[in-house]
Amino acid sequence: KRVAIVYGGWSSEREVSLSSGRQMAAAARESGQYDVVEIDATRELANQILDAKPDVILNGLHGPWGEDGCVQGVFEILGIPYSHSGVAASAVAMDKRKSKAVYAQNGIEIAADVKVTREFAAKEHPLPPPYVIKPIAEGSSFGVVMVRKGANAPADILMSDSWVYGDNLMAEEYIPGREITVGVMGDRALCVTEITTLREFYDFDAKYESGGSRHVVPADLPGRVTQAVMDAALKAHQALGCRGVTRSDFRYDDEKDRLVILETNTQPGMTPTSLVPEQAAHLGISFVELVSWMIEDASC
Ligand code: DAL
Ligand code: MG
Repeated sequence: KRVAIVYGGWSSEREVSLSSGRQMAAAARESGQYDVVEIDATRELANQILDAKPDVILNGLHGPWGEDGCVQGVFEILGIPYSHSGVAASAVAMDKRKSKAVYAQNGIEIAADVKVTREFAAKEHPLPPPYVIKPIAEGSSFGVVMVRKGANAPADILMSDSWVYGDNLMAEEYIPGREITVGVMGDRALCVTEITTLREFYDFDAKYESGGSRHVVPADLPGRVTQAVMDAALKAHQALGCRGVTRSDFRYDDEKDRLVILETNTQPGMTPTSLVPEQAAHLGISFVELVSWMIEDASC
């Protein structure tokens, strides 16, 4: 079977995608089952794919264009089976506010949020602090800024790097407590990882620098909480209509026993520090097996 692994692209997460994509390409070759072609996506992507003549596409892109339904639409039009989620699920999951409406409808608790505009930001706190400013459709914590209690809000927001990612920002209630995440592979929730970091939050460097964060797999949580997070991750995956592998991120406030979903990633990282490969390994699924599973699961 000839597999085209599409990665790179031109989103803010390009470097992360190069790492995920190259690691997946090495694993697909190592499996000995596939003829592998690597494609660093450009705006000529349709031609790049047609030239490669693949039977299947393994999507290794992250962020805008690659994770939001756009590239999935190109794969659909070309009629080539591709890995991970389809057009609609990708588009909804990439929009942190639209996906939250779906979670709420399905009984998964969400944090309060409001859309932030520059005019609004100039006047008052959009929410009582502490809260988090984030682009509605980015990944890898790009543009995420914490607004602490006592912060001079309008100034903080106006000066925030988040605006680099466009005008589409939201302020979201900060949930104290623990950062936890669950990968889903088809109809199976993998396990729960707790992430701790000495940085202010699980930001870009905490995510990708070796030693930037500590992952506890499986997380040391009461059995009932573990079950609730696994159920919520699978429910989120299904409610959004996702396919293949996803990873849903949560906060758990021990004091209030409150579990809140933040988002579902339809193209979760496959880098050396990424969470889904680590969860799969914990369950005895090697990275080569995970990659082969994603390729075999492809459809259109
Ligand atoms: N957006 C990064 C790749 C992740 O969710 O793992
Ligand atoms: Mg994300």
